[in-house]
Amino acid sequence: MKKIGILGSGAVAKALGIGFIKYGHEVMLGTRDAAKLSDWKAQAGDKASVGSFEDAAKFGEILILAVGGRVAADVIDTAGPQHFMHKTVIDPTNPIGAEPPQDGVLKFFTTEESLIEILQARFPEVHFVKAFNSVGSGFMVNPSFKEGKPSMFICGNNNAAKQDVSDILDKFGWEVEDMGKATAGRAIEPLCMLWCIPGFMNNHWSHAFKLLKA
Ligand SMILES: NC(=O)c1ccc[n+]([C@@H]2O[C@H](COP(=O)([O-])OP(=O)(O)OC[C@H]3O[C@@H](n4cnc5c(N)ncnc54)[C@H](OP(=O)(O)O)[C@@H]3O)[C@@H](O)[C@H]2O)c1
Repeated sequence: MKKIGILGSGAVAKALGIGFIKYGHEVMLGTRDAAKLSDWKAQAGDKASVGSFEDAAKFGEILILAVGGRVAADVIDTAGPQHFMHKTVIDPTNPIGAEPPQDGVLKFFTTEESLIEILQARFPEVHFVKAFNSVGSGFMVNPSFKEGKPSMFICGNNNAAKQDVSDILDKFGWEVEDMGKATAGRAIEPLCMLWCIPGFMNNHWSHAFKLLKA
């Protein structure tokens, strides 16, 4: 069983935290304000703890960067980049800009490069793996769809890290689709825009992607 450090206190951090605990891992959530996680900690039980961003980064053998895309790099700087070195870091972030969506389409602050590439270039010793960015938090762990297992598109530069994440996704009920290097973030991150359109247009948020293969 691994120690999982999750930087974040939002819906993604809470849902993935409960998911890892369900599979026997110890989980620490990191935040600037531990008080806001007291209900989550009470619900999550003995294997759950809460600390600062730095505490969570130090604690985790595997880390999850579950914070807003605009602050993702700053949170790593605050937590101490040395605590991320050579670790598998699951990156569910999306580069959502400050402006509101237009016709249901989110605005990203990235242009050609994806957020995972920006993070990878800034922290070259960290093994980032993009995952969980293109589905709502309520469906991240063992979702149930009548069409069967949904697909999770992942990418990253380190194969061992992608294997770690693939093993987790397999347990969490996903078909893993490895799209290659961090460059593929340019295609995977915009899936978040596509996923959100039915939500903004028709208040429909309960779907996931599936890659069909002949
Ligand atoms: N919500 C979803 O269903 C979903 C699905 C897929 C992907 N995502 C992506 O996953 C990430 C997390 O999403 P979320 O909805 O769980 O949470 P969120 O509301 O996007 O982010 C919350 C986290 O960001 C941190 N944060 C915000 N502003 C900050 C600042 N100025 N400095 C430092 N930290 C700051 C907060 O820190 P504190 O704890 O200190 O307040 C908190 O931990 C995002 O990148 C989002 O796009 C979300």
